[in-house]
Amino acid sequence: MLLWQKMMIGLARSESVTRRMQNSRFMGRFASRFVGGRDGAEGLARARTLREQKLSASLFYLGEYVADPLEIETTSRALAEVAQGLGRSGLDVHLSVDPTQLGAMISWEACRENVTELAREVAANAGAGRDVLMLDMEDSTVTQPTLDLYDHLRSENLPVAVTIQAYLHRTPDDLARLVAGGAMVRLVKGAFAEPGKKAVTGRRDRDDAYRKAIVTLLSPEARERGVYPVFGTHDHRMVAFAEHVAATNGWQRDQWEVEMLLGVRTAYQRELADRGVAVRLYLPFGRDWWPYSIRRVGENPKNLGFVFRSMVGRGA
Ligand code: FDA
Repeated sequence: MLLWQKMMIGLARSESVTRRMQNSRFMGRFASRFVGGRDGAEGLARARTLREQKLSASLFYLGEYVADPLEIETTSRALAEVAQGLGRSGLDVHLSVDPTQLGAMISWEACRENVTELAREVAANAGAGRDVLMLDMEDSTVTQPTLDLYDHLRSENLPVAVTIQAYLHRTPDDLARLVAGGAMVRLVKGAFAEPGKKAVTGRRDRDDAYRKAIVTLLSPEARERGVYPVFGTHDHRMVAFAEHVAATNGWQRDQWEVEMLLGVRTAYQRELADRGVAVRLYLPFGRDWWPYSIRRVGENPKNLGFVFRSMVGRGA
């Protein structure tokens, strides 16, 4: 990992820096670049604004690896309220969740209960859009329990989708099974520092694995089975390849989508939406905006400019 990225992760993990930044009145503009708002109401307002620009949203309550039962309850409540708000606004009731923010740190049984309840909330508020509870995928120690959770929700006929990381060696087998079951799958390259026995580690191998997974998710068989692929990437080469495979195999524009993070490559997001690609944005909200936002700076030093402009009151 680059020294720069390590430094930013250090800032993300520092409790004193986090406290200072989250209380700073200068940093609001920086936060709003990557984060939809400090609470559900602001997150919903942002989702409505995006919809006017033909961009869909998937709302995520900030926080991960949560072991405090009160915090887990707060997370569940915030997400349930947002599901209701999205339904009332006629927007897609689309939420993203990390299993470790909904109880997996305590027990997978507790997590299953919380996630099942939330998926019921999504179902109860669903409208005409693409309504689903998207399970994010965390480090490889939780891959199998997360897939088991997905299977459980599917067996209960609840609206659920799952994220798959192209870099894992197990992914071709997981995708074959998910395609056979007609799943909605968000494909990402993978963000955790996994060992070579679990995942490919070089950039080129990771990209090759991503392309192979695109071919699987956009195969004629996947289309017949009702698979809905979501390409979670900012990489224009991957998106161009997906567009090519989709066109070759007869996929319509409304049968797959691209998902990017709020605030990352915004001009490119617009460009895709303008030429008819379905684009969704991952829209985090909540009080804990600093660790998430500074990690985006770690991924791309150009984003540091937003920090400075925010501090002098000229946010982008
Ligand atoms: P990558 O970072 O490899 O960039 C490839 C190329 O794209 C660059 O070389 C450049 O050409 C271009 N590019 C990228 N960013 C740019 C920028 N800001 N400006 C200009 N050019 C740029 N991971 C995980 O493990 N579990 C998960 O659940 C999720 N969930 C998730 C949801 C969504 C919606 C997204 C977008 C991503 C995730 N991820 C994730 C993260 C994912 O695994 C991955 O780490 C990041 O998306 C970075 O990889 P990319 O595919 O975006 O391209």
